[in-house]
Amino acid sequence: MTIKTISTTPFMDQKPGTSGLRKRVSVFMRRNYVENFVQSVFDSLEGYQGKTLVIGGDGRYFNDVAIQKAIKIASANGFGAVLVGQGGLLSTPGASHVIRRHHAFGGLVLSASHNPGGPDGDFGIKYNVGNGGPAPEKITEAIFARSTVIDRYLIADAPDVDLSRIGTHHSGGMVVEVIDPVDDYAELMETLFDFEKIRVMFASGFRMRFDAMHAITGPYATRILEEKLGAPKGTVMNGTPSPDFGGGHPDPNLVYAKDLYDLMMSADAPDFGAASDGDGDRNLIIGKGRFVTPSDSLAVLAANAPLAPGYATGIAGIARSMPTSAAADRVAEKLGIEMHETPTGWKFFGNLLDAGRVTICGEESAGTGSNHVREKDGLWAVLLWLNILASRQQSVDQIVREHWATYGRNYYTRHDYDEVDSAAANSLVEDLRNRLPEFVGQELAGRRVTYADDFTYHDPIDGSTSARQGIRIGFADGSRIVLRLSGTGTVGATLRLYLERYEPAHGRHDLETQAALQPLIDIAESIAAIQARTGRSAPSVIT
Ligand code: G1P
Ligand code: ZN
Repeated sequence: MTIKTISTTPFMDQKPGTSGLRKRVSVFMRRNYVENFVQSVFDSLEGYQGKTLVIGGDGRYFNDVAIQKAIKIASANGFGAVLVGQGGLLSTPGASHVIRRHHAFGGLVLSASHNPGGPDGDFGIKYNVGNGGPAPEKITEAIFARSTVIDRYLIADAPDVDLSRIGTHHSGGMVVEVIDPVDDYAELMETLFDFEKIRVMFASGFRMRFDAMHAITGPYATRILEEKLGAPKGTVMNGTPSPDFGGGHPDPNLVYAKDLYDLMMSADAPDFGAASDGDGDRNLIIGKGRFVTPSDSLAVLAANAPLAPGYATGIAGIARSMPTSAAADRVAEKLGIEMHETPTGWKFFGNLLDAGRVTICGEESAGTGSNHVREKDGLWAVLLWLNILASRQQSVDQIVREHWATYGRNYYTRHDYDEVDSAAANSLVEDLRNRLPEFVGQELAGRRVTYADDFTYHDPIDGSTSARQGIRIGFADGSRIVLRLSGTGTVGATLRLYLERYEPAHGRHDLETQAALQPLIDIAESIAAIQARTGRSAPSVIT
């Protein structure tokens, strides 16, 4: 086999974040761009000679081109084998599981998650380590450092692999095993959930809609929901992955999954509605007439997890990202188990999961998951909900209301200001950070501030510290205002404002969310002047 050494020049202008390198497709199409990144990843790793690498993506535009390059570069760099999903497809949680199950050295996940696809959309590449989770900062920093000095990459002079055919292929001297993308994952789900009970529920007339948003969960949901669990054909909507997600935006929120939301609020709504994003790690849960916020969903799933066989012996602990509402904290308190508040980003859950300190994790941004993989997992959340519904024989609405009556309700909303001028956003956060000490002990619109800080996380497992993870202002009545800059936007800055108000178990649980939070929205504007300083009269997205 011939290995070509191609000379190249440094290329990255910005450190890849938690979600890896994410850019416009046109940037990834630049000469040597993919090659440089993949080679920078391999140059930052040690000990992979002869080992297995997993590669798969969400099927978006350019997935097919990038994957062939990655295979040839892996071959030239001495990997022993590559496991790749048929058609180059693997969902993010699916890839995490394949890495773990096959004891691979690591994996490359090709996706830009919920960002739009197509020639004018986004693309991304992320490296995951042997535990199946996103690479820790130490590695992403090494990748970036390497990318600034890279001067060559190695690539096998071999033909493209036919990824449509399951079975053993070769690329140069390396084995390429094309696997069914769904098999391993479906098998894992069957060990966690009571498929028989869910089957009986579907057989007795339970109806659901799962919106795959023309993205990766289509084949997974069709196989599991329709073929294995016997949900009627048509349960999965938009189930065929398309390179541009059918021209849509594969983000399962109330804006982009509006059709599903409208259906679920209509008179002939099915019993259950759900959706997942581009790469299958996020979830949206809507009952008949009842939208469940991701923060509430995390709390309900944690409280009811033992109804599923995979969690029958109970859960060790719960972790949530800092901006996620404290609803789950109430559950942990009642169960007497550990509760952890971590910075935004799934990677912060990895150590806690590996150490067995927590079983269930979640983020307000529609990410929920458990120790079964090291990524958040959209379909997992949907299946756990189905298991709970089948066991409790109640509607989503009843379950949520009973939850509030037991633990109290955390009214919660997130206001996003997208594509804001970066300098304006940075100075806004900076100024607010400097003023935090003056708020403590003050009354703001009748609420006393008990703490105000820029969140610092001390990882209890590896002792590392992550500072400046977002501004938190906490009030004596359990309310909170959180403000942080997004780390995943591709244009300008995105400011996220999170608002939360706690209403005890015997309190009022039927208020309209935005109205319930209006006093906190007003306080936030009065101290941070987001609208005044960004020139926006309203948030771009309200969740
Ligand atoms: C967003 C979400 C965060 C999630 C990340 C990757 O990051 O807020 O919870 O982990 O996407 O899916 P952000 O843009 O806020 O930095
Ligand atoms: Zn995603």
